[in-house]
Amino acid sequence: MSSEKIRIFDTTLRDGEQSPGASLSIAEKLEIARQLAILGVDIIEAGFPVSSKAQFDATHLVADKVQGPVITGLARANEKDIEAAANALEPAKNKRIHTFIATSPIHMKYKLKKSSDEVLKMAINAVKYAKTFTDDVEFSPEDACRSDTSFLVEILTAVIEAGATTLNIPDTVGYVLPYEYGRLIAHLADNVPGIDKCIISTHCHNDLGMAVANSLTGVRNGARQIECAVNGLGERAGNAALEEIVMAIQTRTDFFGGADEKKPLTNIDTKQIYKTSQLVSQLTGFLIQPNKAIVGANAFAHESGVHVDGVLKERTTYEIMTPQSIGLGGSRMVLGRHTGRHGFVERCKQLGFKLSDAELEQAYQRFKEIADKKKEVFDEDVAAIIGDETHVVEKIYELKYIHVVSGSGVLPTATVKIKVKGKMKQAASCGDGPVDAAYEAIREATGQSPELENYSIRAVTRGKEALGEATVKISRDGRIFIGRGISTDIIEASARAYLDAINRMVSVSGKDEGPEIKAEL
Ligand code: KIV
Ligand code: ZN
Repeated sequence: MSSEKIRIFDTTLRDGEQSPGASLSIAEKLEIARQLAILGVDIIEAGFPVSSKAQFDATHLVADKVQGPVITGLARANEKDIEAAANALEPAKNKRIHTFIATSPIHMKYKLKKSSDEVLKMAINAVKYAKTFTDDVEFSPEDACRSDTSFLVEILTAVIEAGATTLNIPDTVGYVLPYEYGRLIAHLADNVPGIDKCIISTHCHNDLGMAVANSLTGVRNGARQIECAVNGLGERAGNAALEEIVMAIQTRTDFFGGADEKKPLTNIDTKQIYKTSQLVSQLTGFLIQPNKAIVGANAFAHESGVHVDGVLKERTTYEIMTPQSIGLGGSRMVLGRHTGRHGFVERCKQLGFKLSDAELEQAYQRFKEIADKKKEVFDEDVAAIIGDETHVVEKIYELKYIHVVSGSGVLPTATVKIKVKGKMKQAASCGDGPVDAAYEAIREATGQSPELENYSIRAVTRGKEALGEATVKISRDGRIFIGRGISTDIIEASARAYLDAINRMVSVSGKDEGPEIKAEL
């Protein structure tokens, strides 16, 4: 095995944002991109610039403001797409154009309606054209794993001659199994002339749950770039999950690492993983399943007596990684109402949060409110408080008071007081249930009545005092807005989430972010 670094190419903002129901504002994309740079990814795919004004602007903003990683934008194999990508990437210090065209018989016949000769020519022209803007050009034969292998060899040979420097091999529909994917990568590595001067990349979808396994088998067979997304976001069942890829490589350096097992194989600061995962979950509104590998709430929890006993005697009996390695405090010392500002600030630092003084103050005040109601405040709670208090969105409407009466045989009724531009507005309403009543009262107090698309609630940690976290999806004029709210009281958490979504909606009104057109691939 080679000990050459494995490049982590993050596509959370492009393929990840193509997840059904995910929708990020431009400011949120920038916030995620900044965190990805802190995490240490090598390449950020910031968007698909030709597909909408919002995609173009987001890619341009990330290219302008985020230093460190190479910034790339996706483009189909035509001049218009490539020009849009080049223009969007213009401010980036290190830029890459990622161009692609489908190569499988099924895609060429039904989607492109083109012969393989035409596809070959388009691929060559696209790479040559992209080369006029930057030396760093990536080519993807879409649906590579269902393509004819000899055609793949032919097209990859041709695009290398045209100047491609990274060759990405997508399993677009998540069809192949690890053995097959590994064999394909090895075959290309052995049979495409000039490929040794290029980087081979993996891009695996998770339709059969194989995305991470396929990507890692690709690495074992010669790939040196992995395309992945935080929390495994992506089209349909998603992409390979960044956190799983990175921790598998780090935990099994013996398997992946070549001679020097101590030399990290990726540039990722693994202590930033938990924080990045939380941020992406908060901003996309995609909750993380509790048993999700690496970042799920149960990933480091031990329940059964035998396991707890084993871990207390020797941690490695049942733990192959430490919670600290992904940035969870893992400390048995929990915070509480007697924790002072200093203790809170220290814990925030330990958890990898770099906050401004104003953000820290805001988070500390909220922490005190919560610690008054909840005996123990865990690391997950601290992360949720910070996520809730440091949103990029302006608080146009602020919940100041909520009182709900509900129960069997009682008509659920809610009263809310909401601060709007310094003035207090009050409203009372009935509803089908306590949350419905609260939402009706909020609609009345704010004068905003978006469509409610989705609502969910989860406990941040365990136990009867756990913080509740509500996630709400609303829409207006076809645009989706996601809000989150936390509280020890789930009705209050629900009201906060609803107002957060309304604040997001109101803050983009008047600013033209363009219609939310999903990338058309
Ligand atoms: O899944 C896929 O094939 C893609 C390409 C555009 C790289 O996302
Ligand atoms: Zn994809």
